[in-house]
Amino acid sequence: MVAALAPLELLERTRRGEPIDPQSVTDFVQAWLDGVIGDPQMAAWCMAVCIRGIDMPATQALTSAMIASGDRLELGKFGPTGDKHSTGGVGDAISLVVAPLSAAIGVKVAKMSGRGLGHTGGTLDKLESIPGMRIDLDMADFVRQLRDVGVVVVGANERLVPADKRLYALRDQTATVQNPSLIASSIMSKKIAGGAHAIVLDVKVGSGAFFEDVDSAREAAKIMVALGAPWGRKVRYILSSMEEPLGTMVGNALEVAGAAEVLRGGGAPDLRDLSIRITGALAEAAGVAPVGEGLAAAGEALESGAALRKAEQWVEAQGGDPAVWTDVSRLPAAPITLTVRAPTDGYVNRLDAREVGEAARWLGAGRLHPAQAVDPAVGIELLAKIGDPVGAGSPVAVVHCRETETGERAVQMMLDALGVSDTPVEPPVLVIEES
Ligand code: URA
Repeated sequence: MVAALAPLELLERTRRGEPIDPQSVTDFVQAWLDGVIGDPQMAAWCMAVCIRGIDMPATQALTSAMIASGDRLELGKFGPTGDKHSTGGVGDAISLVVAPLSAAIGVKVAKMSGRGLGHTGGTLDKLESIPGMRIDLDMADFVRQLRDVGVVVVGANERLVPADKRLYALRDQTATVQNPSLIASSIMSKKIAGGAHAIVLDVKVGSGAFFEDVDSAREAAKIMVALGAPWGRKVRYILSSMEEPLGTMVGNALEVAGAAEVLRGGGAPDLRDLSIRITGALAEAAGVAPVGEGLAAAGEALESGAALRKAEQWVEAQGGDPAVWTDVSRLPAAPITLTVRAPTDGYVNRLDAREVGEAARWLGAGRLHPAQAVDPAVGIELLAKIGDPVGAGSPVAVVHCRETETGERAVQMMLDALGVSDTPVEPPVLVIEES
């Protein structure tokens, strides 16, 4: 057996783009966790990985070392279990639909979600806009709810993959987030430690996403699928567009309201379609629907009201007001609304997801610094999306805000995010690729 490389040698070989053996990566990560080497060496290695890349065995070793840094849940005894992960988007309330919808068709969902990051929203912030909703269950309640209700969504457990929290913070400070192997190992270490056996990855592509081009999104998706295999995880992926926000609501309570419309059988077509696709893929990967029949099973559970009933049970079990799904006036609402109007006649040809996300963040729906509290009530409602015809002066969006001055700036940001052409425009293709 080849002896593992000393840390400095590993750094040099990675920097030169030479092969590195997996054991050296394992030892390097362990040495960093034990304090034998410090953050400068780890940051240097991440930078070398970003520039040169690493191969699959090295990525597997990194992922396994991160998983080994903490506890690992084993959910097999609860029956078919599933989880979904989105690489982050704007208006992406999919988890609020997919979690109860999956549970309604027999895939148990034990989900650990995150908060908003940058211009993108986070499931926890959205859930906390539901009056009474608790996202800090202890392990015994978490397991009980999974067993009895079939769906539970909480904040990240500090004991699962603590190495990722440290490594992500270091990458964030050293411009080393953007590498498919590092992103894939970060996401998959958490998903594998979370215990679900079927995993569907919704990898976003476009202006509002981590990946701005299809090739790098696909590369990361394929690495994630391969990382799950040795752990017995059935991983599927969908590459979906994030050129414009998903659905018609951007903001925490607003997105709960958007998800509620889908759960009641209507809602924005893109939010609904992608939720059904993801749930269908999850049902097939978890083995509760034969291949090719997952979509129909998911669609039926929405139509029949089974998903809505499951959503009510889920929220009630976590202390929240279950009536929010049928009466969205129970959600927090902002005191002021301002209308954004189309500057000219034509067709919407641009509704930049990142810029809309930034406008919502400016209003307080997201954070400008990590310690900031989000405002559950504020955000943006979209009345037109790419491809829609608009008339000069017609309403294209509504800004929900606390103060007129803040809202007026968001109106301007929305006008900057919007483009109108005088010739018809095709809406972006939502699902770019599915495996
Ligand atoms: N999300 C994660 O959890 N990790 C990354 O590295 C990037 C996105």
